[in-house]
Order: sequence, then structure tokens, then C-alpha cells
Amino acid sequence: IKAAVFASGTGSNFDAIVKASEAGGIPCDIQLLVCDRKDAVVITKAEQKNIDTFVFSPKEFDGKDAYERQILLECRERGIEWVFLAGYMRLIGPVLLEPFKNRIINIHPSLLPAFPGKDAIGQAFEKQVKVTGVTIHYIDDGMDTGPIIEQEAIRITAKDTKETLQQKIQAVEHSLYPKVIQSLLVEEEVH
Ligand code: GRF
Repeated sequence: IKAAVFASGTGSNFDAIVKASEAGGIPCDIQLLVCDRKDAVVITKAEQKNIDTFVFSPKEFDGKDAYERQILLECRERGIEWVFLAGYMRLIGPVLLEPFKNRIINIHPSLLPAFPGKDAIGQAFEKQVKVTGVTIHYIDDGMDTGPIIEQEAIRITAKDTKETLQQKIQAVEHSLYPKVIQSLLVEEEVH
């Protein structure tokens, strides 16, 4: 199974997915990184792993449809069947949603539907909730609104700072994302 990761930032989840794929922990090859920021750290991570990258600057295109058509082309050239969003800071539009129906998933650092959007960790910390977590969900046309696939809860203790909470969340993300990908892909192979 061929897959692409879309990311805009550091790429620690990209790394976790690629490592799981290399170790045979998930039955897919990550063939492409799509990135909308030319200076994102994740690009160097893909280059080190010899994974193709499609790096673009949205403002160089005539709108979302135009850059998504280019992304679709890049995916089709490589036979991409699944898309894993990992810190990709843009909503996915119909140009990609339709061909990849139920094949685009996202990881979000809160227990959705709580704290959608940007800085979910900061939002949870400021609200002083005692439990937050990580959600993996299918993508639809909303912001972090698609059907939930899996969640894992994390306690916020009195000792936590935003930084320690972030570390806890990342640790959960890096094990949960490969696990969920594994079960979705195995399910697909069975059917
Ligand atoms: C993760 O916390 C993910 O849940 C969110 O963006 C962050 C990406 O981190 N969607 P990284 O670039 O994978 O390190």
C-alpha cells in the first residue's frame, strides 16, 4: 500500500510513521511528503530518508483548487492510496476529498470535539481541564470534525506545564498513529 504524509512543521509524527513503515510495523510505504512551507523541518527529514517531497507555496497558486490539483497529480503519479495528515495546517478541499474518500486521516492533539483548530494543547491547558488526549479521525470538509477513529486520554496533573503536557501528547501520538494506521490498513487488506 502506498501512502503520502502531509505536514507543515517539525515532522515528529512523519518520523514515527516512516519508522514504523521501515520496521514493517505498518503494511505501507511512505512514498511522498507534501509540505506547504518551504522552510519546514519535516522536509529535511524526508530528504534524509530519500522520500520524495512536493513542497509548494500556496500563494504561488491561483487558490486551493489549483494547488490541490497539483498535489493530486503528484499523488497519482506515485499511485498513492492513503493520505496521513501530520501537522498539515490547511483544510483539505473537494479536489482531494473526493478521490481520497475515507482515505485521508488526521491526528489532533485533543479529545475532539473539544479544542479543535490551532494550539489545542494550549487551549486545554488554559481551560484547566484535567483530561485531554489525542484523536485520530477521518477528514471531512470541516476543521477537525470528521468521524473519530480512535482516541487516547492523557491526564493533566498539577505539576504539568504546557511543555510537559506537549511532551506527553507527542509520546502518545507517536505510538498511537502507527497503531491506528496498522489496523486500518490490515482491515482494508482483509476486505
Ligand atoms: C501534532 O501535535 C499533531 O497532532 C498536530 O500537529 C502536530 C504536529 O507535530 N496536528 P509534528 O510536526 O508531527 O511534530
